[in-house]
Amino acid sequence: MTDRVIGPVLVNGTKVDPSDAAVSVFDIGFQRGYGCFEAMRCYEGSAFRAKRHLERLGRSAQMLGIPLPEQAVLEEWTNEVAGSHDGVLRVYVTGGTDPAKLGTDNSIIMFLQPLPEVPSRFRLDIVEAPWHPDGRDSELTGAKTLSYGPNLAATIAARERGFDDAVLLGRNGAVLEGPTFSLGWVEGGVVHTPSLDSNILESVTREATFDVAIDLGIEIREGVYDAADLLGADEVFIMSTVREISHVVAVGEAVFEPGPVTTQLAAGFHALVERESS
Ligand SMILES: Cc1ncc(COP(=O)(O)O)c(C=O)c1O
Repeated sequence: MTDRVIGPVLVNGTKVDPSDAAVSVFDIGFQRGYGCFEAMRCYEGSAFRAKRHLERLGRSAQMLGIPLPEQAVLEEWTNEVAGSHDGVLRVYVTGGTDPAKLGTDNSIIMFLQPLPEVPSRFRLDIVEAPWHPDGRDSELTGAKTLSYGPNLAATIAARERGFDDAVLLGRNGAVLEGPTFSLGWVEGGVVHTPSLDSNILESVTREATFDVAIDLGIEIREGVYDAADLLGADEVFIMSTVREISHVVAVGEAVFEPGPVTTQLAAGFHALVERESS
């Protein structure tokens, strides 16, 4: 497992050998999934839109009531872990060992991993997600918490049926997002994507895709869509830090060609990364 880390693990800002890095069994992050996390993509040491990720981490921690160091300190730690490497920089914040005083003995963990192998084209299964907030607000709306069990179960269920991952459908049949990615599709040259009002994660890649589309003069519409809208698309794609913008070639029984608009957006995204990393 430790060979899947590039460099040291930073625990509360201190370098720890990966084989010694640990979280207390009394930490409610471990016990109850009470905590939050982020993943940033590093391109030769430049963490893409690190500020946006750290802002989201800050919002998640605030909603959970877990104190965090200043953003500048987190940025410093991010740069230290990123070094000059390519990879995925993972950040975990645990609730700590005293639920009555959040942040007691808690851990802020950062490490860099090599990019996992991901398919270049995705086949997605449609999975019902009655647990998704899907437009309903709660104390943790918008927080990227450690409680990702239902998301993971949806991915595992889709994989057991021979797909790469899942498309989540809300209680009223609305298309939402993937368990760890945002979703978009193209119809008649226009990009459609579920709106943030459905309480999908405010994805950094989705936001960057909007910037790319605006630059390229591609229209983007956000809305509430059902599975028929998605299945009737000309092209389907996913957006995430790890997968950037990737073609989807199947949703359930429906098949899609890797289309030109997605290819254009993916190329535009790489150009944006290059510009912002230099
Ligand atoms: C539920 C969900 N939606 C979307 C995304 C994509 O977000 P980002 O582009 O910030 O990686 C993620 C990433 O983990 C996610 O967990």
